[in-house]
Amino acid sequence: MKTQTDLAGTQPPLNYPAYRSTIRRAPAHPAIRLPESLSNLDVPVYGWWPIGETDNDLTRQCSGEPQGQRIVVAGRVLDEAGRAVSGALVEVWQANAAGRYRHAKDDHPAPLDPNFTGAGRTVTGADGRYEFTTIKPGAYPWRNHHNAWRPAHIHFSIFGSSFRTRLVTQMYFPDDPFFAYDPMFQSIRDERARRRLISKFDLDLTRPEWAIGFSFDIVVCGPNATPFEGRE
Ligand SMILES: [Fe+2]
Repeated sequence: MKTQTDLAGTQPPLNYPAYRSTIRRAPAHPAIRLPESLSNLDVPVYGWWPIGETDNDLTRQCSGEPQGQRIVVAGRVLDEAGRAVSGALVEVWQANAAGRYRHAKDDHPAPLDPNFTGAGRTVTGADGRYEFTTIKPGAYPWRNHHNAWRPAHIHFSIFGSSFRTRLVTQMYFPDDPFFAYDPMFQSIRDERARRRLISKFDLDLTRPEWAIGFSFDIVVCGPNATPFEGRE
């Protein structure tokens, strides 16, 4: 049984001054426990609309194909005992191949791709499995410090049985040269926990003459939990 001390450094702190915006974003006071209410419904409340056929294929959501390296990202959502978490809504959002988000606040002077939304979603199967086909995102600059670039990453959100169970994290790619310089990645002090955010190249997921595969399992709780944002 791991103690709280053993788990120290496995989750990113809310206030990590090297990641500048956390200084003002982090709560200055301890959390207040609120009484249970209807908003804590123990049923799926993440949307009544059905998942569309191309929601988990970001290369087929527009009239043409997006630019960039086609990839498959797949894995399982698991609990602390390695059991499958089925019926979880997995959502992703990411920059395009040039490192640009389709978002009003992204003014990075890299081209937008008219054929890439950068957003996808799916629901895990009985075995906890999810899969996305997408484009490998580019690194992008941010203004945290001089010459700051984010390692290529895909944002993930996982909803369990209710909104209260939302978990948010980022998936990285193997051997990214920006790991050592990225305060978001480095804010997870435990190296083994940090490595849980790096996907693995997977030849079995790789589709001949089509797309390169990366596997990424997500553990939602327990001593080997994936690092999640805001969970300190
Ligand atoms: Fe990002």
